[in-house]
Amino acid sequence: MADTAFTPRVFSGIQPSGGLTLGNYLGALKRFVDMQDAGTHECVYCIVDLHAITVWQDPKALTAQIREAAAAFIAAGIDPSRSILFNQSQVAEHAQLAWIFNCVARMGWMRRMTQWKEKAGKHSEEASLGLFAYPALMAADILAYHATHVPVGEDQKQHLELTRDIAAKFNHDFGEEFFPITEPVIGGPAARVMSLRDGTKKMSKSDPSDMSRINLRDDADLIAQKFRKARTDPEPLPGTYEELKDRPEARNLVDIYAAMAGIEPDAVMAEHGGAGWGQFKPQLAELAVETMGPITGEMNRLMDDPAEIDRILSGGADRAREIAAPILSRTYDIVGLVSK
Ligand code: AMP
Ligand code: TRP
Repeated sequence: MADTAFTPRVFSGIQPSGGLTLGNYLGALKRFVDMQDAGTHECVYCIVDLHAITVWQDPKALTAQIREAAAAFIAAGIDPSRSILFNQSQVAEHAQLAWIFNCVARMGWMRRMTQWKEKAGKHSEEASLGLFAYPALMAADILAYHATHVPVGEDQKQHLELTRDIAAKFNHDFGEEFFPITEPVIGGPAARVMSLRDGTKKMSKSDPSDMSRINLRDDADLIAQKFRKARTDPEPLPGTYEELKDRPEARNLVDIYAAMAGIEPDAVMAEHGGAGWGQFKPQLAELAVETMGPITGEMNRLMDDPAEIDRILSGGADRAREIAAPILSRTYDIVGLVSK
Protein backbone atom coordinates (compact mmCIF):
# COMPACT_ATOMS: atom_id res chain seq x y z
CA MET A 1 0.00 0.00 0.00
CA ALA A 2 1.34 3.45 -0.84
CA ASP A 3 1.96 5.39 2.34
CA THR A 4 0.76 8.55 0.58
CA ALA A 5 -2.77 7.78 1.75
CA PHE A 6 -1.62 8.69 5.26
CA THR A 7 -0.59 12.02 6.72
CA PRO A 8 3.23 12.16 6.57
CA ARG A 9 4.10 11.56 10.20
CA VAL A 10 7.32 10.65 11.97
CA PHE A 11 7.38 8.63 15.18
CA SER A 12 10.43 7.58 17.13
CA GLY A 13 11.34 6.63 20.68
CA ILE A 14 14.27 6.37 23.05
CA GLN A 15 14.37 4.26 26.21
CA PRO A 16 15.12 6.05 29.47
CA SER A 17 17.13 3.11 30.73
CA GLY A 18 20.21 5.15 31.63
CA GLY A 19 21.93 8.33 30.56
CA LEU A 20 21.84 8.95 26.81
CA THR A 21 25.01 8.45 24.76
CA LEU A 22 26.70 9.98 21.75
CA GLY A 23 25.27 6.99 19.82
CA ASN A 24 21.74 8.07 20.76
CA TYR A 25 22.56 11.64 19.81
CA LEU A 26 24.14 10.99 16.41
CA GLY A 27 22.05 7.93 15.47
CA ALA A 28 18.73 9.27 16.68
CA LEU A 29 18.28 12.69 18.35
CA LYS A 30 20.21 14.73 15.80
CA ARG A 31 18.21 13.16 13.00
CA PHE A 32 14.93 13.73 14.89
CA VAL A 33 15.81 17.42 14.97
CA ASP A 34 16.63 17.43 11.24
CA MET A 35 13.24 15.87 10.45
CA GLN A 36 11.47 18.39 12.68
CA ASP A 37 13.30 21.29 11.03
CA ALA A 38 12.63 19.98 7.50
CA GLY A 39 8.96 20.68 8.25
CA THR A 40 7.73 17.98 5.85
CA HIS A 41 6.30 15.69 8.55
CA GLU A 42 4.39 16.00 11.76
CA CYS A 43 6.86 14.69 14.38
CA VAL A 44 5.96 12.62 17.43
CA TYR A 45 8.84 11.77 19.81
CA CYS A 46 8.44 9.52 22.77
CA ILE A 47 10.42 8.55 25.85
CA VAL A 48 9.50 4.89 25.95
CA ASP A 49 9.42 4.21 29.67
CA LEU A 50 7.23 1.11 29.32
CA HIS A 51 9.96 -0.40 27.16
CA ALA A 52 12.59 0.44 29.76
CA ILE A 53 10.86 -1.63 32.48
CA THR A 54 11.11 -4.82 30.42
CA VAL A 55 14.37 -5.11 32.37
CA TRP A 56 14.72 -4.07 36.03
CA GLN A 57 14.83 -0.32 36.68
CA ASP A 58 15.22 1.21 40.09
CA PRO A 59 12.04 3.34 40.48
CA LYS A 60 13.75 6.54 41.68
CA ALA A 61 16.46 6.30 39.06
CA LEU A 62 13.85 5.65 36.37
CA THR A 63 11.94 8.84 37.20
CA ALA A 64 15.17 10.84 36.97
CA GLN A 65 16.13 9.15 33.70
CA ILE A 66 12.76 9.98 32.11
CA ARG A 67 13.29 13.65 32.94
CA GLU A 68 16.89 13.50 31.78
CA ALA A 69 15.83 12.02 28.44
CA ALA A 70 13.25 14.78 28.02
CA ALA A 71 15.95 17.36 28.75
CA ALA A 72 18.20 15.71 26.15
CA PHE A 73 15.52 15.93 23.46
CA ILE A 74 14.93 19.60 24.14
CA ALA A 75 18.61 20.49 24.52
CA ALA A 76 19.35 18.73 21.23
CA GLY A 77 16.82 20.99 19.49
CA ILE A 78 13.40 19.36 19.72
CA ASP A 79 10.92 22.19 20.13
CA PRO A 80 7.92 20.92 22.14
CA SER A 81 5.65 23.45 20.45
CA ARG A 82 6.49 22.16 16.97
CA SER A 83 7.00 18.45 17.73
CA ILE A 84 5.01 16.34 20.16
CA LEU A 85 7.27 15.21 23.04
CA PHE A 86 5.94 12.96 25.80
CA ASN A 87 6.54 9.79 27.80
CA GLN A 88 4.83 6.60 26.75
CA SER A 89 3.19 5.61 30.04
CA GLN A 90 1.07 8.79 30.03
CA VAL A 91 -0.77 7.71 26.90
CA ALA A 92 -2.60 4.47 27.72
CA GLU A 93 -3.37 3.83 24.05
CA HIS A 94 0.16 2.41 23.58
CA ALA A 95 -0.42 -0.43 26.03
CA GLN A 96 -3.97 -0.97 24.79
CA LEU A 97 -2.98 -1.29 21.15
CA ALA A 98 0.00 -3.45 22.17
CA TRP A 99 -2.44 -5.99 23.59
CA ILE A 100 -4.24 -6.25 20.27
CA PHE A 101 -0.87 -6.69 18.54
CA ASN A 102 0.13 -9.38 21.05
CA CYS A 103 -2.78 -11.27 19.59
CA VAL A 104 -1.73 -10.59 15.99
CA ALA A 105 2.01 -11.31 16.25
CA ARG A 106 3.18 -14.92 16.35
CA MET A 107 5.51 -16.50 18.94
CA GLY A 108 7.91 -17.54 16.18
CA TRP A 109 8.27 -13.95 14.94
CA MET A 110 9.27 -12.76 18.41
CA ARG A 111 11.66 -15.63 19.00
CA ARG A 112 13.61 -14.67 15.89
CA MET A 113 14.39 -11.15 17.12
CA THR A 114 18.16 -10.79 17.57
CA GLN A 115 17.72 -8.25 20.35
CA TRP A 116 15.61 -10.76 22.30
CA LYS A 117 18.22 -13.45 21.75
CA GLU A 118 21.02 -11.13 22.86
CA LYS A 119 19.26 -9.69 25.87
CA ALA A 120 17.63 -12.88 27.16
CA GLY A 121 20.57 -15.05 26.15
CA LYS A 122 20.77 -18.41 27.91
CA HIS A 123 18.44 -17.17 30.64
CA SER A 124 15.30 -16.78 28.58
CA GLU A 125 13.21 -18.64 31.18
CA GLU A 126 14.01 -15.88 33.67
CA ALA A 127 13.49 -12.98 31.23
CA SER A 128 10.29 -10.99 31.64
CA LEU A 129 7.33 -11.69 29.39
CA GLY A 130 7.47 -7.99 28.57
CA LEU A 131 10.97 -8.34 27.10
CA PHE A 132 9.68 -11.04 24.77
CA ALA A 133 6.62 -9.01 23.71
CA TYR A 134 8.60 -5.75 23.45
CA PRO A 135 8.52 -5.53 19.62
CA ALA A 136 4.69 -5.67 19.64
CA LEU A 137 4.65 -2.67 22.00
CA MET A 138 7.05 -0.92 19.65
CA ALA A 139 4.71 -1.63 16.72
CA ALA A 140 1.86 -0.17 18.80
CA ASP A 141 3.90 2.98 19.51
CA ILE A 142 4.33 3.57 15.82
CA LEU A 143 0.96 2.44 14.51
CA ALA A 144 -1.12 4.22 17.18
CA TYR A 145 -0.15 7.36 15.25
CA HIS A 146 -0.37 5.83 11.76
CA ALA A 147 3.25 6.96 11.49
CA THR A 148 4.65 6.71 7.99
CA HIS A 149 8.36 7.17 8.78
CA VAL A 150 10.51 6.02 11.70
CA PRO A 151 14.08 7.33 12.07
CA VAL A 152 16.21 4.89 14.09
CA GLY A 153 19.73 3.48 14.32
CA GLU A 154 20.69 0.30 12.48
CA ASP A 155 20.02 -1.92 15.53
CA GLN A 156 16.26 -1.30 15.25
CA LYS A 157 15.87 -2.43 11.64
CA GLN A 158 14.55 -5.89 12.50
CA HIS A 159 11.97 -4.46 14.91
CA LEU A 160 10.71 -2.19 12.16
CA GLU A 161 10.37 -5.10 9.78
CA LEU A 162 8.27 -6.80 12.43
CA THR A 163 6.14 -3.65 12.74
CA ARG A 164 5.46 -3.87 9.00
CA ASP A 165 4.58 -7.57 9.36
CA ILE A 166 2.14 -6.83 12.17
CA ALA A 167 0.48 -4.04 10.18
CA ALA A 168 0.22 -6.23 7.09
CA LYS A 169 -1.20 -9.21 9.01
CA PHE A 170 -3.73 -7.03 10.80
CA ASN A 171 -4.82 -5.42 7.52
CA HIS A 172 -5.05 -8.83 5.87
CA ASP A 173 -6.85 -10.60 8.75
CA PHE A 174 -9.49 -7.90 9.04
CA GLY A 175 -9.71 -7.12 5.33
CA GLU A 176 -9.03 -3.42 5.62
CA GLU A 177 -5.94 -1.36 4.77
CA PHE A 178 -6.11 0.36 8.12
CA PHE A 179 -2.48 0.56 9.26
CA PRO A 180 0.28 2.07 7.10
CA ILE A 181 3.31 -0.01 6.15
CA THR A 182 5.86 2.20 7.85
CA GLU A 183 9.17 3.15 6.24
CA PRO A 184 12.33 2.93 8.36
CA VAL A 185 14.69 5.89 7.99
CA ILE A 186 18.16 4.53 8.68
CA GLY A 187 21.44 5.84 7.37
CA GLY A 188 24.35 8.22 7.49
CA PRO A 189 27.75 7.61 9.05
CA ALA A 190 26.24 7.37 12.56
CA ALA A 191 23.63 4.68 11.98
CA ARG A 192 25.80 2.48 14.19
CA VAL A 193 28.19 4.26 16.53
CA MET A 194 30.49 1.67 18.07
CA SER A 195 31.99 1.29 21.54
CA LEU A 196 35.24 3.19 22.13
CA ARG A 197 36.72 0.03 23.68
CA ASP A 198 35.60 -2.53 21.09
CA GLY A 199 34.87 -1.60 17.47
CA THR A 200 32.63 -4.63 16.99
CA LYS A 201 30.11 -3.71 19.72
CA LYS A 202 27.66 -0.81 19.54
CA MET A 203 28.07 2.10 21.91
CA SER A 204 25.44 1.47 24.57
CA LYS A 205 24.15 3.04 27.76
CA SER A 206 24.09 -0.41 29.33
CA ASP A 207 27.77 -1.28 28.67
CA PRO A 208 29.47 -1.93 32.05
CA SER A 209 32.48 0.19 30.99
CA ASP A 210 31.86 3.94 31.14
CA MET A 211 35.00 4.43 29.01
CA SER A 212 33.22 2.67 26.15
CA ARG A 213 30.84 5.55 25.59
CA ILE A 214 30.46 9.33 25.60
CA ASN A 215 27.48 10.27 27.79
CA LEU A 216 25.54 13.38 26.91
CA ARG A 217 26.30 14.68 30.40
CA ASP A 218 30.09 14.10 30.32
CA ASP A 219 32.12 17.28 30.74
CA ALA A 220 34.82 18.48 28.35
CA ASP A 221 37.72 16.89 30.25
CA LEU A 222 36.06 13.50 30.39
CA ILE A 223 35.16 13.62 26.68
CA ALA A 224 38.78 14.43 25.79
CA GLN A 225 40.05 11.66 28.07
CA LYS A 226 37.69 9.07 26.60
CA PHE A 227 38.73 9.87 23.04
CA ARG A 228 42.41 9.92 24.01
CA LYS A 229 42.04 6.44 25.51
CA ALA A 230 39.78 5.11 22.75
CA ARG A 231 41.10 1.86 21.38
CA THR A 232 42.75 2.11 17.94
CA ASP A 233 45.31 0.22 15.90
CA PRO A 234 48.90 1.41 15.45
CA GLU A 235 48.51 2.48 11.79
CA PRO A 236 47.97 6.12 10.82
CA LEU A 237 44.82 7.16 8.97
CA PRO A 238 44.85 6.06 5.31
CA GLY A 239 43.97 8.29 2.36
CA THR A 240 40.57 6.73 1.64
CA TYR A 241 37.61 5.52 3.69
CA GLU A 242 37.58 2.26 1.76
CA GLU A 243 40.92 1.32 3.35
CA LEU A 244 39.30 1.37 6.80
CA LYS A 245 37.12 -1.62 5.92
CA ASP A 246 38.91 -4.02 8.26
CA ARG A 247 39.82 -1.48 10.93
CA PRO A 248 36.59 -1.18 12.96
CA GLU A 249 37.95 1.04 15.75
CA ALA A 250 39.60 3.46 13.32
CA ARG A 251 36.52 3.54 11.11
CA ASN A 252 34.31 4.26 14.08
CA LEU A 253 36.29 7.35 15.06
CA VAL A 254 36.17 8.60 11.46
CA ASP A 255 32.41 7.98 11.32
CA ILE A 256 31.89 9.89 14.56
CA TYR A 257 33.95 12.78 13.23
CA ALA A 258 31.99 12.82 9.96
CA ALA A 259 28.60 12.71 11.68
CA MET A 260 29.49 15.52 14.07
CA ALA A 261 31.01 17.70 11.35
CA GLY A 262 28.08 16.97 9.04
CA ILE A 263 30.38 15.80 6.23
CA GLU A 264 30.96 12.53 4.37
CA PRO A 265 33.57 10.11 5.78
CA ASP A 266 35.52 10.50 2.50
CA ALA A 267 35.87 14.21 3.20
CA VAL A 268 37.35 13.38 6.63
CA MET A 269 39.92 11.16 4.93
CA ALA A 270 40.76 13.83 2.37
CA GLU A 271 41.49 16.22 5.23
CA HIS A 272 43.13 13.89 7.77
CA GLY A 273 44.59 11.03 5.68
CA GLY A 274 48.19 10.35 6.80
CA ALA A 275 47.62 11.76 10.30
CA GLY A 276 48.60 9.66 13.32
CA TRP A 277 46.25 9.15 16.26
CA GLY A 278 48.19 11.65 18.35
CA GLN A 279 47.08 14.28 15.84
CA PHE A 280 43.60 13.08 14.97
CA LYS A 281 42.25 12.21 18.43
CA PRO A 282 42.68 15.72 19.92
CA GLN A 283 40.90 17.21 16.90
CA LEU A 284 38.08 14.71 17.28
CA ALA A 285 37.84 15.53 20.99
CA GLU A 286 37.76 19.24 20.24
CA LEU A 287 34.96 18.80 17.71
CA ALA A 288 33.03 16.64 20.21
CA VAL A 289 33.37 19.20 22.98
CA GLU A 290 32.27 21.97 20.61
CA THR A 291 29.26 19.93 19.47
CA MET A 292 28.20 18.44 22.79
CA GLY A 293 29.15 21.24 25.19
CA PRO A 294 26.17 23.50 24.49
CA ILE A 295 23.79 20.51 24.61
CA THR A 296 25.16 19.33 27.96
CA GLY A 297 24.93 22.87 29.34
CA GLU A 298 21.32 23.24 28.24
CA MET A 299 20.43 19.79 29.62
CA ASN A 300 21.85 20.68 33.01
CA ARG A 301 19.94 23.96 33.01
CA LEU A 302 16.65 22.24 32.12
CA MET A 303 17.13 19.58 34.78
CA ASP A 304 17.25 22.22 37.48
CA ASP A 305 13.53 22.70 36.86
CA PRO A 306 11.86 19.26 36.87
CA ALA A 307 8.38 20.81 37.23
CA GLU A 308 8.84 22.53 33.87
CA ILE A 309 9.92 19.25 32.24
CA ASP A 310 6.87 17.49 33.70
CA ARG A 311 4.63 20.25 32.36
CA ILE A 312 6.08 19.84 28.86
CA LEU A 313 5.65 16.04 28.97
CA SER A 314 2.08 16.32 30.16
CA GLY A 315 1.21 18.82 27.41
CA GLY A 316 2.83 16.53 24.83
CA ALA A 317 0.85 13.55 26.15
CA ASP A 318 -2.43 15.43 25.71
CA ARG A 319 -1.59 16.18 22.08
CA ALA A 320 -0.41 12.61 21.46
CA ARG A 321 -3.63 11.20 22.90
CA GLU A 322 -5.68 13.32 20.50
CA ILE A 323 -4.12 11.43 17.60
CA ALA A 324 -3.92 7.96 19.17
CA ALA A 325 -7.38 7.75 20.81
CA PRO A 326 -9.46 7.77 17.60
CA ILE A 327 -7.06 5.30 15.95
CA LEU A 328 -7.38 2.90 18.90
CA SER A 329 -11.12 3.30 18.97
CA ARG A 330 -11.36 2.49 15.26
CA THR A 331 -9.07 -0.52 15.82
CA TYR A 332 -11.46 -1.83 18.50
CA ASP A 333 -14.35 -1.47 16.06
CA ILE A 334 -12.47 -3.32 13.33
CA VAL A 335 -11.62 -6.16 15.73
CA GLY A 336 -15.27 -6.34 16.82
CA LEU A 337 -14.84 -5.23 20.41
CA VAL A 338 -17.75 -3.25 21.77
CA SER A 339 -16.16 0.06 22.80
CA LYS A 340 -17.82 3.11 24.26
P1 AMP B 1 17.83 3.06 22.81
O1 AMP B 1 18.88 3.77 23.59
O2 AMP B 1 18.15 1.60 22.63
O3 AMP B 1 16.44 3.34 23.26
O4 AMP B 1 17.93 3.67 21.34
C1 AMP B 1 17.29 4.87 20.97
C2 AMP B 1 17.66 5.23 19.55
O5 AMP B 1 19.08 5.48 19.47
C3 AMP B 1 17.37 4.14 18.52
O6 AMP B 1 16.95 4.75 17.32
C4 AMP B 1 18.67 3.46 18.36
O7 AMP B 1 18.79 2.82 17.11
C5 AMP B 1 19.64 4.64 18.48
N1 AMP B 1 20.95 4.20 18.94
C6 AMP B 1 21.25 3.66 20.16
N2 AMP B 1 22.55 3.34 20.24
C7 AMP B 1 23.10 3.69 19.03
C8 AMP B 1 24.41 3.62 18.48
N3 AMP B 1 25.43 3.14 19.18
N4 AMP B 1 24.60 4.07 17.22
C9 AMP B 1 23.56 4.58 16.50
N5 AMP B 1 22.31 4.67 16.96
C10 AMP B 1 22.07 4.24 18.21
N1 TRP C 1 13.16 -0.21 20.65
C1 TRP C 1 13.77 1.09 20.48
C2 TRP C 1 15.21 1.05 21.02
O1 TRP C 1 15.53 0.30 21.88
C3 TRP C 1 13.00 2.17 21.18
C4 TRP C 1 11.63 2.29 20.65
C5 TRP C 1 10.49 1.88 21.27
C6 TRP C 1 11.26 2.85 19.40
N2 TRP C 1 9.41 2.20 20.49
C7 TRP C 1 9.85 2.77 19.34
C8 TRP C 1 11.97 3.39 18.33
C9 TRP C 1 9.14 3.20 18.23
C10 TRP C 1 11.25 3.84 17.22
C11 TRP C 1 9.84 3.74 17.16
O2 TRP C 1 16.01 1.80 20.56
